[in-house]
Amino acid sequence: MSGSRFSERQHAAFRALNDSLSFDWRLGPYDVQQSRAHATMLAAQGIISSQERDELHRALDRVEAELADGAFPFAEGDEDVHMAIERRVTELAGRVGGKLHTARSRNDQVATDVAMFVRAHAHRAFELASRVAQTLVDAAQAHLDWPMPGYTHLQRAQPVYLSHHLLAYTWMLIRDRDRFLGVAGATGALPLGAGALAGVNFDTDRSLVARELGFASVAENSIDAVSNRDFVLDYLAAAATCATHLSRLGAEIVLWSSEEFGFCEVADAWASGSSIMPQKKNPDAAELLRAKAPRISGHLVALHGVLHGLPLTYNKDMQEDKEHLFDAADTIELCLEAADGMLSSIRFSRENLAAAAADEMLAATDVADLLVRRGMPFREAHGVVAGLVRRAIEQDKALSDLTREELAEASPLLDEEFYAVLGDRAWLESKRSEGATSLARVREQLERARAALR
Ligand code: ARG
Repeated sequence: MSGSRFSERQHAAFRALNDSLSFDWRLGPYDVQQSRAHATMLAAQGIISSQERDELHRALDRVEAELADGAFPFAEGDEDVHMAIERRVTELAGRVGGKLHTARSRNDQVATDVAMFVRAHAHRAFELASRVAQTLVDAAQAHLDWPMPGYTHLQRAQPVYLSHHLLAYTWMLIRDRDRFLGVAGATGALPLGAGALAGVNFDTDRSLVARELGFASVAENSIDAVSNRDFVLDYLAAAATCATHLSRLGAEIVLWSSEEFGFCEVADAWASGSSIMPQKKNPDAAELLRAKAPRISGHLVALHGVLHGLPLTYNKDMQEDKEHLFDAADTIELCLEAADGMLSSIRFSRENLAAAAADEMLAATDVADLLVRRGMPFREAHGVVAGLVRRAIEQDKALSDLTREELAEASPLLDEEFYAVLGDRAWLESKRSEGATSLARVREQLERARAALR
């Protein structure tokens, strides 16, 4: 074997362990772009001639087209996508292909490709999360004054409007999109030009490459540049949080779709039947939104595991960033698309939501507040109303069926207005504090959410 320091062939099992082409082919288009920019810079600095640059560019254009239409001829010995592309460029352009790797190492090359991938997919997730947030805003608008029970501990707590509940998810998705935007920003410093770790022996112009590739700046430290995968961790963290939000949404839709709740029904396009029970309509999409989140947080934890304690600079361990990143990107993008489609077509039952929200017990806090308005400390009022609730439950009757005598016994401050509070159903509209569920406040919120999404 001439031109090699090795006297033995690589063991098949080592190759299977070491080769990354089976997954890093996805970096191909970014690798071509960066190689084009690198060749441009090499010529601008007089490191290669402009004729050589043109030959390299022609070969790279061809490689790009081959990658795009699936015609790229991968070869037996290709260890990773970077070597495959360089080999192909050399096949197409001849000896000059060997000049492409001047003043570049696979270490700064791979860090650059991964940063470009993260940036593109952070922007994609930003778009998709914005779309889901917009769909939730539209759904909130369409169900503005539909009362429903709000829950704590999955026990009916206080009534809210469905719009208010849907807007809660809107704000989560708005935070998610902002996080993805931040992730895109975290990819802003160009690693390329760091060489293997110490810089290169040529008078390169890294700012030129940064401009060509849309990086805002150049990584300040060549050691950090090839060791840094923070932007992958940032992307995985943003995706994990977003997936966790979608899982809570999915979980509620699963519950609400059950016969027991009957609050909503997903469209047929987002449900499946049972192979044995003809009556079943299962909200599978919502179930899978619920289940995908730990997969993405698993990727985040796994990459922290790979990077923790890792000595500087590049180590082959870092090749393990890719499958976690790629699967997380595929998963969160699919989940966001599915969430959007499912939410766009879901139907809520005004009747069932209203019936559940009409439960008088949901007004217990409002009765306590009546006593507070009459001067009783809230803590005492809470106790008085808790006693009334117990009395009603023991007698298997509604709060409003308690007698004047029972009320007087509980507190001399309780009179006819007790019945009025229970009867006027104003338990939602009385929640007028900032961010609360009264219609006026929800309308304000809708406006703010719309503004945030503009
Ligand atoms: N396939 C490698 C990776 O994904 C590329 C970098 C290889 N660098 C090296 N020094 N072997 O990380």
